[in-house]
Amino acid sequence: MSFPENFLWGGAVAANQCEGAYNEEGKGLSIQDVLPHGLKSAPTAEPTPDNLKLKGIDFYHRYEEDLQLMAEMGFKVFRTSIAWSRIYPLGDEEEPNEKGLEFYDRLFAECHKYGMEPLVTISHYETPLHLARKYNGWASSQMIGFYEKYVRTIFNRYKGQVKYWLTFNEINSVLHSPFMSGGIVTPQEELSLSDLYQAIHHEFVASALATKIAHEIMPEAQVGCMILSMPTYPLTPNPDDIIKVMECDHFNDFFGDMHVRGEYPGYMKRYFRENDIQIKTTPEELVLLKEHTVDFVSFSYYLSLCEGVEGEDIVGNFMGGKKNPYLKASDWGWPIDPQGLRYILNKFYDRWQKPLFIVENGLGAKDELVDDGQGGKTVQDGYRIQYMTAHLRQVAEAIADGVPVMGYTSWGCIDLVSASTAQMSKRYGFIYVDRNDDGTGSLQRYPKKSFHWYKEVIATNGACL
Ligand code: BG6
Repeated sequence: MSFPENFLWGGAVAANQCEGAYNEEGKGLSIQDVLPHGLKSAPTAEPTPDNLKLKGIDFYHRYEEDLQLMAEMGFKVFRTSIAWSRIYPLGDEEEPNEKGLEFYDRLFAECHKYGMEPLVTISHYETPLHLARKYNGWASSQMIGFYEKYVRTIFNRYKGQVKYWLTFNEINSVLHSPFMSGGIVTPQEELSLSDLYQAIHHEFVASALATKIAHEIMPEAQVGCMILSMPTYPLTPNPDDIIKVMECDHFNDFFGDMHVRGEYPGYMKRYFRENDIQIKTTPEELVLLKEHTVDFVSFSYYLSLCEGVEGEDIVGNFMGGKKNPYLKASDWGWPIDPQGLRYILNKFYDRWQKPLFIVENGLGAKDELVDDGQGGKTVQDGYRIQYMTAHLRQVAEAIADGVPVMGYTSWGCIDLVSASTAQMSKRYGFIYVDRNDDGTGSLQRYPKKSFHWYKEVIATNGACL
């Protein structure tokens, strides 16, 4: 197994799933503070005690201990997000919250202490709640101005500290989850396609604007888009299935095409025409999109999908698709397909010819804390090691195919609260956090078996795989 010498090994988290401290030091509420039961649940009027994200894993107060453990694994990069509502508690005020800015000063300094490069998601499913409620989130063009002010603040503050930036987490997820992804309060079933694609247009413009501003303020910075990748296979060779897969691919490739090629593709113009989708754009916006494309493409990869005109629908995975008879699934019904990662790396590179960064991948599983035989506790997570070994071998295959892969940050390198289900028990980490779905637990950290395995992977630059 061969990985480039400067390969960025590491792990990823998001502020709203780990920080906690939801109302400390001036932080405003984010949409996650009123989503106690995850993706498909209705938001509550106020934060409620059953919302695990309010405390998360208390990373806000324990980041020093956590980063030390990540440094012990040898991380070269640490991906996290900035909680927008820590910086601008409401989102539409003029002055930022200094205490919030200071937290990330300390966090990034701590990363550099260990030689870890921060990789920062600007907006990871945590729109300030006020912007969602007052403006209907990204449905409003005013969001572009609020986002611009936010990015100018963080770029000016963290220039020299942060080199790698991602504009929106899984930007294509707004198609499935308009509230969590886009802060859009209108219920999904009442949202017209024109409203949805107008909101997406606003995000594209904001993303291009952030790319432009980042390059002006930090010439050494690299800005990427972030896409939820869903390699989709035809269920049969029936040409109807092939065309269905092509059309499904278009809905996701559209997001990368906009960020890399900087213009609306013909297949989307046709879709807009045939579905009477009207979106407002200005000539200046179209120039901005064309002139300020991304430096790299990043993506999450958990599963592949199958599509066809017949076949059994998958249940339990929010992306839909048909059941692939060749694949087993995780405890949460997500099909496990290591080769899908090689496939999508090749596909994305063939299409965009940009460096690629795998910024999320991993296995959400139920872990059991057991005695480690030396007076401590651990998790014997051989299943996770098996999952990640198989996936990383496919990354090496893609690299051998000639795909430039910048790095790999496994998702939830330390256990955190799940985005889709809001559970603690859906664990991804190399580090176990003692917190349960009912909120009990000491919050103590315990390295799992996979912790030692990943340390070896990084130390050998993947040779031990
Ligand atoms: C991605 C998100 O969709 O998948 C993360 O960017 C999320 O925020 C991750 O946590 C895993 O999903 P889940 O639902 O298992 O937490």
